[in-house]
Amino acid sequence: MKIYQITDTHLAEASNDLDTNLIRLLDIVNQDKDEKVLLLTGDLANAAVPAAYQRIRTYLEACELITHCYALAGNHDDLHVMKACFKGSKIKIRQSATVHGIPFHFLDTSEKPLGRSLELGAGRVTSREIMALKKAIRKTPRLIISHHPILDVSEQWFKQIGIENQAEVVRCFTSKCNVISGHAHHYFDIKQGNVRQLVGIASAYGFEHQSNTPQRSDCLGMSIYKASWSEGEICVEHLSNNLL
Ligand SMILES: [Fe+2]
Repeated sequence: MKIYQITDTHLAEASNDLDTNLIRLLDIVNQDKDEKVLLLTGDLANAAVPAAYQRIRTYLEACELITHCYALAGNHDDLHVMKACFKGSKIKIRQSATVHGIPFHFLDTSEKPLGRSLELGAGRVTSREIMALKKAIRKTPRLIISHHPILDVSEQWFKQIGIENQAEVVRCFTSKCNVISGHAHHYFDIKQGNVRQLVGIASAYGFEHQSNTPQRSDCLGMSIYKASWSEGEICVEHLSNNLL
């Protein structure tokens, strides 16, 4: 099954060029007749206003061939507003789902940190989410989807907007697991211990990760993967980054 990841759309209250980016990407996804799922991995709206989520809902409704779509919240989003706006639509917000035989677990990292050591943009995984994650992957392999990457993928400035209880989250993975995240606005594929961390490129704008400070780049689009079962494990192959 193909996985289309559209992430960090950062839509504003009123429609602008970022909407055009999203519509162009959705059109590509919609035209693919293969078995597929669309993942919207957070920071969908820049300021969590209902109007932005309503437009995403409307754009998706026009895509008749996108039938499996899951979203999770990023640091810019408001999960409650998202849930209210997507209610009754094809955009599902779930903790787990199985699509074309591939089981997913959606890890919410959009909770605000408890301490003050990290910067605005950081997240936290609640105790309840930690318990649910452990339970979900105890017996069955699952593909993990989150907004914030679980592993460190980049420079110090990016760590400052990471997951506050990152170490606690990483310790949950006692066997091999693939994680697909957003937030970095850049493609990454790194391994550490049991975790393979994939990060998709953003539809709004890119981030230059070679820099010591956050700098935007014009590398934007979406990332496409293929997921399948092999010898009792879920294999994820990165197919391409579809650049705009
Ligand atoms: Fe983010």
